[in-house]
Amino acid sequence: MPKAGTVEVVPSILSADFAKLADELAQVKAAGVKMVHLDVMDGHFVPNITIGPPVIAKLRQHSDLVFDSHLMITAPELYAEQFVEAGVNNITFHIEAAKEPEKLIENLHKWGCTAGVTLNPDTPVEAIRKIAPLCDMVLVMTVEPGFGAQEFMPEAAKKVIEVRKIVGPDIRVEVDGGINPETVPTVIRYGADTLVAGNAVFGTGDRAAAIEAIRKAAGIS
Ligand code: DX5
Ligand code: ZN
Repeated sequence: MPKAGTVEVVPSILSADFAKLADELAQVKAAGVKMVHLDVMDGHFVPNITIGPPVIAKLRQHSDLVFDSHLMITAPELYAEQFVEAGVNNITFHIEAAKEPEKLIENLHKWGCTAGVTLNPDTPVEAIRKIAPLCDMVLVMTVEPGFGAQEFMPEAAKKVIEVRKIVGPDIRVEVDGGINPETVPTVIRYGADTLVAGNAVFGTGDRAAAIEAIRKAAGIS
């Protein structure tokens, strides 16, 4: 994962064409992104199902982008190693789903993978206060996880301010859900530096132009 200190636009494949994922990744790479966001859903932690390690392992053969995997799954500790073996570079797990978060973070680091922790819109920042400093990234969900193209939740986004206070400048603070050129200035002001965008990138015909519009709104181009 790129070291904290830069603002990164991270396209989420949830709105991409799942039959052409390798091409989709090549397009956003050509537009200059360093990282892509892989949304993993198990139909249990969230009411939707996407992809798992076999698909990611194949994608790894077609892309050298940093794979930022967002595990919206129950019992992430049971599956994390399989995702690392499939080639992800970062694993973000939900605090609501992890039994022993410290142990999971320790294992991820041992396996050479960075660790992120995330919290749902209704989960207070308090829930991650202790373990956030052990992570490489904190993800603040700005929609209820499970689906793309939902509306940005301004109250959830405000938690970024508190999270940034806790983690300081050396840990990434990612936002996910409803991120687009209109909502980006707010999350940047709150202290986010890692901007996941699904529909705003893959929901448009011209991915490079969409990424550029988000970058402009973030003040980085
Ligand atoms: C939602 C996922 C998001 C999703 C965001 O559960 O975690 O990563 O792709 O989609 P947009 O950017 O369309 O709100
Ligand atoms: Zn996500």
